Amino acid sequence: MSQDGLFEAPKALLLEIEQYEPANAEEVEQFRIQYLGAKGAIKRLFGAIKDIPNEQKKAYGQLVNQVKQTAEAKWEAWKEQFAGQQQQQQAGDLTRPIVQGAPGARHPLSIIRNKIITVFNRIGFTVAEGPEIEDDWHNFTALNIPADHPARDMQDTFFLQRHPDIVLRTHTSPVQIRYMEEHEPPIRIISPGRVFRVDNDSTHSPVFHQVEGLYIAKGVSFAELKQTLYYFVNEIFGEGTEVRFRPSYFPFTEPSAEMDIAWKKDGKDSWMEILGCGMVDPNVLENCNIDPDIYTGYAFGMGVERIAMLKYGIRDIRLFYENDVRFLRQFTADT
Ligand code: DAH
Repeated sequence: MSQDGLFEAPKALLLEIEQYEPANAEEVEQFRIQYLGAKGAIKRLFGAIKDIPNEQKKAYGQLVNQVKQTAEAKWEAWKEQFAGQQQQQQAGDLTRPIVQGAPGARHPLSIIRNKIITVFNRIGFTVAEGPEIEDDWHNFTALNIPADHPARDMQDTFFLQRHPDIVLRTHTSPVQIRYMEEHEPPIRIISPGRVFRVDNDSTHSPVFHQVEGLYIAKGVSFAELKQTLYYFVNEIFGEGTEVRFRPSYFPFTEPSAEMDIAWKKDGKDSWMEILGCGMVDPNVLENCNIDPDIYTGYAFGMGVERIAMLKYGIRDIRLFYENDVRFLRQFTADT
């Protein structure tokens, strides 16, 4: 090869590069592959260095470096220029396929709430909702909770300082009142929602969720309440799950009970309280202009977190609110 011939290839390449004019981002990428890529033309020029006579290696190397730097500088400049253009074009292209992100999943509390709703929907309960900011009448007074009842204690309830009559609802029971004020029996509702109490540890959160149930009609009995709750427990925790009722007290029901379900705590048989229930107190019906001599009914209220913790074996309620995807991912299979 003649001496000049040695330098022909890099010189020709330099000219080519200087004349290159990409029309779009794809052509910029083609340029990169063709000249700067691992199998590109510049790599080949560097590869040829071993065949160059020693005394010319330096000059050859400098020329090839110049080719490389020119190509790189052009490529960098075009890259920026066309990146913006490409985004603009794509943003305006309505036929462009959507970018598929990782599929999301429901939060475990939503999964459980939806399950509860579905189970009660099947036996005729419809969803009713009420406000999270309540007044004293609906949250306490109409529910037969007297002014000196501990449930009103400043320790438990978030009051508005400027309006002592307004509270963040401490339970979903006020939805019973709102619904009865507006509707004639028969009434059969389920009311899921967020509730608030001044409470914070591994099993209590200042914000948590409840589901309230209410059935008012002629001749409703405690036996029906029990049967409904047996059905609910079988559906949520599985056929044959053991339950027990314990006499209890709620101002808005008479008689009142708490229902526990059997579960294993640290390998030992034990009971976990999952809901409060009872026959709606006649005073509550009267407060809503429903005649207690004609109608009777039952009510129940349960904590969604409590049920989710039992069902999934979760020990700390705070895990629900931290939104750590390592925790949340474990529920993607459930819907
Ligand atoms: N509201 C009660 C609470 O938050 C739960 C409850 C108990 C609701 C008995 C009811 C009921 O409807 O009948 O602790």
